[in-house]
Amino acid sequence: MEPEAINTLQHNATLYKTIDESGDPKMVVAMYDDISTNYDEIMSKGRYRAPIIAAEEVSILVSENQRKEVRVLDVAAGTGWVGKELTKKGFTNIDALEPSGSMMRQIKSSGVYTLMFQEFLGVGQNTISKGIYDIVVSAGAMRENHIPLSGIDDMIHFTKPGGLVVLLMNNFDVGPKNKAESHMNQLEEKGLWCKESSTIVPNYSLSKEGIVFIYRVQ
Ligand SMILES: C[S@@+](CC[C@H](N)C(=O)[O-])C[C@H]1O[C@@H](n2cnc3c(N)ncnc32)[C@H](O)[C@@H]1O
Repeated sequence: MEPEAINTLQHNATLYKTIDESGDPKMVVAMYDDISTNYDEIMSKGRYRAPIIAAEEVSILVSENQRKEVRVLDVAAGTGWVGKELTKKGFTNIDALEPSGSMMRQIKSSGVYTLMFQEFLGVGQNTISKGIYDIVVSAGAMRENHIPLSGIDDMIHFTKPGGLVVLLMNNFDVGPKNKAESHMNQLEEKGLWCKESSTIVPNYSLSKEGIVFIYRVQ
């Protein structure tokens, strides 16, 4: 790894630790504001493959001739990497939700999104209408002090009945995945959605496994 990338990763690790201790979502956004311009570079070269995997998983769900019509929301869109990967697969109707202003500037300059919402998910401030998306996808944002569990309820809220939520996260044995999974099970017990699959994927982030959850909204 290049020395500059190592420095940035070490800097980020320190910031993450501060955020973990403070638990303040605004701190998370401050960190992403700080790293937005070199995010793609430090996450590239196979270090972080979540956006590529996300686009592959969404593509499996939608036939090529439907990809222009299907309306997709990319939640916690970051620099717009998931959207760029989806565009390569033929999707053209993609919106983005992202709370960081600097990340949002990258999203706007990517030119791949139709509507862009600079909002947090899961804190009761969303302006997105109920039941308008065929697919809601989110990669890399179900982690400490990022999207809270209530954000999963919001993803269901934005999805059309019969639409799909595709959620990618680290497959660590303990931590956010466990909490998210038990919350997702509770939402299924309430009849809000139905699990279609959960698939473990290799090389999700820093050579570690990820997990892709796919749910159909009722
Ligand atoms: C690791 S990045 C992932 C970005 C992008 N999805 C990707 O895979 O490259 C996590 C993103 O989650 C966003 N985020 C953090 N808390 C959030 C929240 N409560 N609601 C929505 N996005 C949030 C951050 O601003 C950041 O852009």
